[in-house]
Amino acid sequence: MIADLRSDTFTRPGLAMRSAMAAAEVGDDVFQEDPTIRELEEEVAGVTGFDAALYVPSGTMSNQIAINLQTRPGDSVLIEAESHVFIYEAGAGPALSGIQFDCVYSADFIQWTDAAAGLVREDTLHSATTSLIVVENTHNRHGGRIFPAAGLERIRAFRQKHPGVSLHCDGARIWNAAVATGNSVAELLNGFDSASVCFSKGLGAPVGSALCGSRELVARARKVRKRWGGGMRQAGIVAAGALYALRHHRERIAEDHERAGILAELFRGLCSDYPNKALSAKTPDPQTNMVYLQVRPDQAQSMVDALSAMGVLVLPTGGGWIRAVTHLDVPGHVMPKVCDAFARCLKGL
Ligand SMILES: Cc1ncc(COP(=O)(O)O)c(C=O)c1O
Repeated sequence: MIADLRSDTFTRPGLAMRSAMAAAEVGDDVFQEDPTIRELEEEVAGVTGFDAALYVPSGTMSNQIAINLQTRPGDSVLIEAESHVFIYEAGAGPALSGIQFDCVYSADFIQWTDAAAGLVREDTLHSATTSLIVVENTHNRHGGRIFPAAGLERIRAFRQKHPGVSLHCDGARIWNAAVATGNSVAELLNGFDSASVCFSKGLGAPVGSALCGSRELVARARKVRKRWGGGMRQAGIVAAGALYALRHHRERIAEDHERAGILAELFRGLCSDYPNKALSAKTPDPQTNMVYLQVRPDQAQSMVDALSAMGVLVLPTGGGWIRAVTHLDVPGHVMPKVCDAFARCLKGL
């Protein structure tokens, strides 16, 4: 295989990370006696600028605990219509917390923030109460786009106007946003009541996410995690991988962004060389580590299969879109081969 570009979740732990995992001190984390998990949680709280953090098995669990704690059944959650929490979490919001979503579609996050603010429901006898707004940064289905600083300003202003509405950030890839903008993670999360950050995406750890928030929120989160079966025992072994990733893999994310830039340039070229086959590049100038190319919907699977036969794995995401994500396991030296495979497959379509 040349490269697995389906997602940055496909990274495998390298030798140094595995050694850190093998050497981890562990204890029973349900009793809060796993020293490695405690160290990870403290370090994550420091990096994200929150008082506390809780290690959980997945980003889905951490987003859903945040929803559960900051809403009541029958409430409404405002969200962008292409968000992971809405599209890819198996209906967990309504199923586990009894909420409904109010969605606004917009790839322009400033417009989205204004539109979402207009959707806050008056708390009347007839309406669902809006109690939470969820922001995804970076945004997966919008091509790894960063929630812009002006949008964050508006969110903070929104927060002041609607103190009864909590703010949650799905920061699965907040690390990418921090590297790309030069802001610290804490700056990007300033003004949010809670945030989910993942170790198993761009950071390249095998397992886990953290839910960050106030001490009080995290204490309550611990109980919901237990209730949902997410209490773990000697999980310091996997937390050590997350800790290693947090300490050693943040800066290198810049390389992933550079490689996404190489793919974007290729995709722009393919769109002009083969206008009947390569229809559009959603991310002509990618901000982080994701690039999308659109081919004719009836040709998408053939393109995916042909690439796979050449050792390049990509993800079809519907409507003829094909996603390629750069990450720790896509080293610079494979990029010429990856580009060559794309060009040859498209030519052969
Ligand atoms: C933006 C975003 N949020 C949350 C998640 C959920 O993470 P997990 O797969 O660990 O549940 C993902 C997974 O890819 C994601 O892309």
